[in-house]
Amino acid sequence: MEHRVHIFDTTLRDGEQSPGCSMNLEEKVRMARQLEHLRVDVIEAGFPIASAGDFEAVQFIAKTVEQSTVAALARAVKQDIDRAWEAIQYAKHPRIHTFIATSDIHLKHKLKKTREQVLTDTVTAVKYAKSLCDNVEFSCEDASRSDINFLCELVAAAIDSGAVVINLPDTVGYALPEEYGAMFSEIRRRVPGVDNVILSAHCHNDLGLAVANSLAAVHNGARQIECTVNGIGERAGNASLEEIVMAIKTRGEKLGIETNIDTHEIYKSSKLLSSLTGMLVQRNKAIVGANAFAHEAGIHQDGMLKSPITYEIMTPQSVGIKHSTLVLGKHSGRHALKQRYAELGYELPADELDRAYQAFCTVADKKKEIFDEDLIAIIEDRVGDVDDYYQLETIQVSSGTNVRPTATLELRLGDQRFVDSATGDGPVDAAYKTIERITGVTGKLTEYSIKSVSLGRDAIGEVFVRAEFNGVLYNGRAVSTDIITGSAKAYLEALNRFLVASKRKKEAEQQTSVAV
Ligand code: KIV
Ligand code: ZN
Repeated sequence: MEHRVHIFDTTLRDGEQSPGCSMNLEEKVRMARQLEHLRVDVIEAGFPIASAGDFEAVQFIAKTVEQSTVAALARAVKQDIDRAWEAIQYAKHPRIHTFIATSDIHLKHKLKKTREQVLTDTVTAVKYAKSLCDNVEFSCEDASRSDINFLCELVAAAIDSGAVVINLPDTVGYALPEEYGAMFSEIRRRVPGVDNVILSAHCHNDLGLAVANSLAAVHNGARQIECTVNGIGERAGNASLEEIVMAIKTRGEKLGIETNIDTHEIYKSSKLLSSLTGMLVQRNKAIVGANAFAHEAGIHQDGMLKSPITYEIMTPQSVGIKHSTLVLGKHSGRHALKQRYAELGYELPADELDRAYQAFCTVADKKKEIFDEDLIAIIEDRVGDVDDYYQLETIQVSSGTNVRPTATLELRLGDQRFVDSATGDGPVDAAYKTIERITGVTGKLTEYSIKSVSLGRDAIGEVFVRAEFNGVLYNGRAVSTDIITGSAKAYLEALNRFLVASKRKKEAEQQTSVAV
């Protein structure tokens, strides 16, 4: 049996059709190009009959992609198949993917058809698709809840009619790995001609079992897995591409299989999809989450510093992440602190490290994450200085259609209060311009991100900014239920850090000149 498992990516079809994941034509084409860099075997580009936009995107992708096979979805009806073929006919490697539901639940409640009718539709559709395109995939929707005898009969008919790939989806994410695997084994045992086609797994994640089910299918002879980047897809999503690929790579010896994926492109693909759709992955998402290669517990950090294999089963580099991170927070130990100081250019003797560690623990109790600037402030004995600088007292902004965004801010510096206003390209820009007017300090914003840290309409937004002052980068972070307030506070934090650093530098220079 072939060792290679084909990766069929359906990010642009099953993924894109789910809430919050839609993309326009240009975005779909960018994603398709990245999927090709990732070296997926098949890109399912869309469902051309669904809309004119879908048709156009599939057609564009079919004309653009050169290496991967480009598939288009079609129900088992002539009109759908014609539209699918119209969209992909110019692809270097086209595939028509046609499907019909096979479970009695779907037959009775959705299709209102008998098994005989479904069998006839299958044969007609697959034969018709085959007359247009040599590469035809047939899917039995809701296969995992279908009667196995009927499934065998239908799969045999589809193979006989020319299908070269048979997909058996767990459409509603209901199957357990053992059951899903057994279905593949039964099909392989009972269906004539099955050895001449590729069996495919397509799992949804309603019970969080999509990846486990896909691997169970492979264990029982499937050689194609249908999956999506970041696991996006209907309801709880589809099997996640990165998890499947890295499970196969990391445990390849045990599983006896491999894929053709360039795993170094995984992180980039995940990031691109998040930025195109605005759908971020949770911090602890396997492989691509912000915490996937981050260690905070002191014991783990110690182990990592001695040898990464103590706590990492794959390298971050293998998925395209530069390096692991030892997150400095209240659970970190002395060893990690010493290491980070060394990376910052401070070789600390034991007594200084002790003192820095005590100060670090005090700061870590108050802050979620400690930045390099905090560590430098600790070592230079200036923890708390930031509080002496500009504070936001009040902020008022007006913006909207046909209104020039304007911000009015009141800042406090010790006992002094300053009020000023400015206009800008947007409310945040107006607020930043006002801060510049009041402080007389101009910075260059190099990074700005905002994310929700709680749920609901009154969610708290966390704003992170990185700004360059006098050629040096400073970070600022703030949380607020009002994103403009959060944005102003985050920028002020970065600016205050710059002011602290400048003041200290000046003091040091003065001391040096006095000594001279
Ligand atoms: O989940 C499913 O059954 C599908 C098919 C259309 C392949 O997405
Ligand atoms: Zn699906």
